[in-house]
Amino acid sequence: MDGHQSTIEVEGPVARAQLSLFLVTCWVTLVIFIIVGSVLAYATIRFKARTQADEHAEQPPQGHGNPLIELSLIGASVLALVIIAVPTLRDIRYTYDVPAGLKGDAYQVTATGYQWWFKFDYPSEQISGVGPLNTGDELVIPAGRPIHIDLRSVDVMHSFWVPKLAGKVDMIPNRANFLWLEADHPGYYWGQCAEYCGESHAVMRFRVIALAPREFEEWLDNQLQPARSVPVRSTAGAEPTAQFAALREFSQNETGSSGVFDNPSVPPLDAWRAKQFVDKGEDPALIARGKLLFAGPASEGGKTCGSCHTIRGVAGAVGSQGPDLTHVGARTTLAGSWIDNTPEQMRRWIHNPEAVKPGNKMWVNGYQLNHITLTPDDEVALVAFLQSLK
Ligand code: CUA
Repeated sequence: MDGHQSTIEVEGPVARAQLSLFLVTCWVTLVIFIIVGSVLAYATIRFKARTQADEHAEQPPQGHGNPLIELSLIGASVLALVIIAVPTLRDIRYTYDVPAGLKGDAYQVTATGYQWWFKFDYPSEQISGVGPLNTGDELVIPAGRPIHIDLRSVDVMHSFWVPKLAGKVDMIPNRANFLWLEADHPGYYWGQCAEYCGESHAVMRFRVIALAPREFEEWLDNQLQPARSVPVRSTAGAEPTAQFAALREFSQNETGSSGVFDNPSVPPLDAWRAKQFVDKGEDPALIARGKLLFAGPASEGGKTCGSCHTIRGVAGAVGSQGPDLTHVGARTTLAGSWIDNTPEQMRRWIHNPEAVKPGNKMWVNGYQLNHITLTPDDEVALVAFLQSLK
């Protein structure tokens, strides 16, 4: 009842309206169940054949066509339906779009479904020469403000669902669906694609992070910046830092199959906030090597990652097939929010994408098509570079 994707513990007005409608329906049907069940139980016990003679006795007189009983049953059914219909019609209207009185305050976002991740565009945050700010996997919104979300799909049908904030609405190719939601207070919410969309449908997830207005503005300010650049110091090439040294020791076999920490020890919003800060002990030389692998020319060992992913401010990283990674180091999840964005999980993801999210485009159109191979050192360098993008 109180899981991350509970529809019973709701935290926004849209989900609350839907929950109250669900409960009204439950109570009405519970009353019907009790009445019908009682009559059935009474008739079964009272008129049971108790002896051999009862079984062969003549049938008692059969009643039918009693206008009073029939009209009462029709009237009771209509009443039950009206009790359900009135709040249903009211809430269909309420949940359809941001209420007129709140429209002026609504924040606008576009969510687009891809096989198998969600892209979020912020049309009111334009970056000159690029277009709207966009992120992958994680939708950051201001708390206490209605959010109007346009729903799009680039391939097949998906469905947008944040159980604690609002019911699901399908994302259909060539159809302009939308929904609205609002988070009562700052929080970290689990979302899920709710329409079967191919082999990795079950791991097509996302997160919604609701922030107080000022923190949201700070987040926007940082997101609008181009990618963080770590200058190579004169001590470049020295010993790798402790963190990435540990990553070198990391074995692919020790990671388990899930990589999702559904019950973290730190409150998830605090974990998200911690991800906004630069890691201590970065290794600038390692990061520079990762950058070259990501976006550098093939003649210098580049792995063509930049032909599918944009990293604003990094020449050679301008693709739009995959998520924009300009600030990927500041996200808490990866790969359609299926795994946590830790260095270990990120390395596991780029080591063998097919094992993490079967059928994904990075594997099929990237690794396989372009015969990309990564050495363990390549993987560690790429992780160091991507984690530095705060
Ligand atoms: Cu997208 Cu299921």
